[in-house]
Amino acid sequence: MTRRAVIAGIGHYLPERIVENAEFEATLDTTDEWIRSRSGIERRHFAAEGETTSNMATKAAQNALADAGLSADDIDAIVVATSTADLTFPSAATMVQAQLGMTRGFAFDVQAVCAGFVYALSNANALVASGQANRVLVIGAETFSKIMDWTDRSTCVLFGDGAGALVLEAQDGTGQSDDRGILATDLNSDGRYKDLLYVDGGVSTQNTGHLRMQGNQVFRHAVEKLASTAHTSLERAELSADDVDWIVPHQANIRIIQGTAKKMGLPMEKVVVTVQDHGNTSAASIPLALSVGKSRGQIKPGDLIVTEAIGGGLAWGSVVLRW
Ligand code: UT7
Repeated sequence: MTRRAVIAGIGHYLPERIVENAEFEATLDTTDEWIRSRSGIERRHFAAEGETTSNMATKAAQNALADAGLSADDIDAIVVATSTADLTFPSAATMVQAQLGMTRGFAFDVQAVCAGFVYALSNANALVASGQANRVLVIGAETFSKIMDWTDRSTCVLFGDGAGALVLEAQDGTGQSDDRGILATDLNSDGRYKDLLYVDGGVSTQNTGHLRMQGNQVFRHAVEKLASTAHTSLERAELSADDVDWIVPHQANIRIIQGTAKKMGLPMEKVVVTVQDHGNTSAASIPLALSVGKSRGQIKPGDLIVTEAIGGGLAWGSVVLRW
């Protein structure tokens, strides 16, 4: 018998304010056409004044708990993937814990930028597999609108805010690839590429800073590394691309999503795409896409899913799971 971390529920939250591409035309030398054709993004949500990452994470968590038919008392641990926590410390995860009214268990953040949710899911899987927790809330939540340089057209049109959450629950499996739950994970980073995507401020530099990105350089790494990590995870699960029902990729750019699917030999009919409506929500994009994919009726019980993401670090990775 193998202890598996199975997805027991999923939910998401998007802030009310929707900003269409055309809105940027008033303040920047850009067009809806450029943004759509280069990135696939049509609109994004921005958090309201005073609406924080932990507020959004809590709402997504409440929706995931309701979907699982569980309450906060049933949860042993909370892992929040974010690079935009409310405060330098404590963690966004402990703030979510308090907002959920949960007075037991433990909570912590994982910071791997756009790959954050894959890192969080992999760590939460290890907590479940090792018996340290039976049920873990895994959340991706970001307010990237707070770190945009609104004069930099090459970055500020690409990102959005939001949160997604899922509940992982320990269940017995056979150890075979037809088990439900997380079947394999693969994590990577290479800090030599720090200058391709970073925020030019922080605690020890005494300012919050703004996101800086050499987009075309990140793009160059993305397709290759994403297809490669997906292949590694599938191999670890003793599966191949032919077994995949859905790729649920990090939603940064439709051209990266298409290029990765092509490299994996899979058609776009097998890819959950939300980038047009959410923009790049960093660590929130995969749980948002999983939740939307389920509510659209795309993802069904028993489906084999590959998630993959890359971002600042560079950090990248993938998870293979059966829904
Ligand atoms: O989630 C974390 C990981 N991040 C990513 O995966 C992002 C990866 N990169 C990308 O998605 C793409 O590289 C971008 C969407 C950021 C840019 O697309 P690109 O096809 O790589 O364009 P580029 O950066 O090579 O820029 C092409 C041109 C430049 O003008 P010149 O130098 O050719 O005259 C830019 O100045 O487009 C210009 N440009 C814009 N034009 C209109 C850059 N931003 C804009 C804009 N509107 N908003």
